[in-house]
Amino acid sequence: MCGIFGYTGKKKAVPILLQGIKTLEYRGYDSAGIFVSGCAPVRAVGEVKNVEGAGGLTKCVGKAGIAHTRWATHGVPSLRNTHPHTDCEESLYIVHNGIVENYKELRERLENSGHSFKSDTDTEVLAHLVEDAFQKETNLHRALVRALKDVRGTYGIALMHKDFAREIVVARMGSPIVLGIGKGEQFVASDPSAIIRHTDTMLYLEDGETAVLSPGGYKIFSSGNKTLNRKPEKVDSDIGEIQKEGFEHFMLKEIMEAKDVFDATTRGRLDLKEGVAHLGGIKDVEEKLQNMKRLVIVGCGSAYYAGMVGKYMIEEHAGVPVDVEIASEYRYRAAPDQKDTVVLAISQSGETADTLACIKEAKRKGLLTLGIVNVVGSTIARESAAGVYNHAGPEVSVASTKAFISQLIVLVLLTLYLGRQRRMGIGEGRAIIDELMKLPSKIQRIFDGRDAIELVANKYVLNRDFLYVGRKYNFALAYEGALKLKEVSYIHAEGYGAGEMKHGPLAMIDKDFPTFAISPKDSVYEKNISNIEEIRARSGKVIALGTEGDMLLASLATDVIYVPKTIEMLSPILNVIPLQLFGYYMSVARGLNVDRPRNLAKAVTVE
Ligand code: G6P
Repeated sequence: MCGIFGYTGKKKAVPILLQGIKTLEYRGYDSAGIFVSGCAPVRAVGEVKNVEGAGGLTKCVGKAGIAHTRWATHGVPSLRNTHPHTDCEESLYIVHNGIVENYKELRERLENSGHSFKSDTDTEVLAHLVEDAFQKETNLHRALVRALKDVRGTYGIALMHKDFAREIVVARMGSPIVLGIGKGEQFVASDPSAIIRHTDTMLYLEDGETAVLSPGGYKIFSSGNKTLNRKPEKVDSDIGEIQKEGFEHFMLKEIMEAKDVFDATTRGRLDLKEGVAHLGGIKDVEEKLQNMKRLVIVGCGSAYYAGMVGKYMIEEHAGVPVDVEIASEYRYRAAPDQKDTVVLAISQSGETADTLACIKEAKRKGLLTLGIVNVVGSTIARESAAGVYNHAGPEVSVASTKAFISQLIVLVLLTLYLGRQRRMGIGEGRAIIDELMKLPSKIQRIFDGRDAIELVANKYVLNRDFLYVGRKYNFALAYEGALKLKEVSYIHAEGYGAGEMKHGPLAMIDKDFPTFAISPKDSVYEKNISNIEEIRARSGKVIALGTEGDMLLASLATDVIYVPKTIEMLSPILNVIPLQLFGYYMSVARGLNVDRPRNLAKAVTVE
């Protein structure tokens, strides 16, 4: 997490740097800081806007600098822990994204040799290590390379020294670093979206690589410190300015983009005649996918829950056995995967550290790796052998909404692709596509009824606990619905398989512990109805999410939210929208920071 931005060139650096880290605020918003050559560093707790105008920054005319927006790992969000960090002499400044795992022993060693620390962060050891290394080296780059030899962990680093006013030295290990190559000016950032307004010519650093930026150019070095001649690449300039466009919050705007996301994710990919999906990004591995005997889907948070839905789709319609694993578990488990197993990572950002580690682990075992990734050119997209882009557009709000919907749609496309390679007949493929194409108008019907969802949310705003239950295709949605509620409204919510209620959770049910029951008219409808009866018999309130026209549900539940009918496999795509809206309205009613929930960040680039 944490966002890094650096600039060296002909223009006043301050506004460019502030704008840069504002774009990166999705990575963390605990505190922000900036160092520009010739000026004193400025730091502030909270969002980037708190740095603007602080500490005489408006008067600073320096033309090179580095900036940082923090998601706290080591040390509370406070001024003393805000980047940039510095050495004893306050002559060098460093911003860092990642974790120095051996920082305790390094700090002890440095303190014993006379260094005094000003923060509780792991990052500060880097500043002192470079300070020491600089005594033995002739330039800042060599000093950083020498210092990093002692470091274990992950880092994206940008470093400046007062005496080399126009030079920025950068390094990457496990945390993304991209360089922006301009005319007479260079940029560095954690993510291309912060650079694209200045240049679309970029260069991604690989793990172990370092670079030196100056207004006139850049040099990159291999992990063995040899000069590299890698050419920059043109990055898709679609990652433009992101606005709320009249919506009060990004979360609502992004939920309401579901139909556009549907169009963008399916564009040019559906073939109704052949009953199949065309996915250009996996064409080259077609034969390997034909021979695949097992699929392992890995992801974190909402992406993991999307994978759980995908398992039901792919197993039922393509006949491929699928395991879904939380990425932070899979990466450390000695999974005895056979060569005909394929590992599929699902990730909106394409930067989630645990998910990325799974791809690396799978590659090490010689397995074919795939990605379903939203951010074009992100690390997971580049590390996977093949994959499918979501094309959902930038997602700003921390809680994933439109990206989740898009992930489900890509999983439908993948099911069609894998299914038609196997047992799925043309008729079945066509029927799925036919139903899929009806979703946008059904999504609109849900949007038309969103005021009713807000009313239901307002009724429950004082409740402190919630249970979400579902079965089969909507089993994972129980978890996703609960996740939406807890992350944006801070209300305790648990997801559960409805069939598991009797094995424990039912004990918690009373009149103050409501249950959100996802119970569309599908093959497990009657089972769900029985579970709702059991909750009602114990005075539990039930908000039921059901299929339009289901009067039985209305007579049983305390409140009902209706969703248009579709086929079972596609029902999560519709059902998740009211769950997202419910979480959103709860957060608004409780007066919380919807788009930036406390303690969280959008891209989780540390373990
Ligand atoms: C964070 C976000 C979630 C997201 C998860 C995985 O926790 O807040 O919304 O689902 O990371 O992120 P990814 O970018 O890999 O999909």
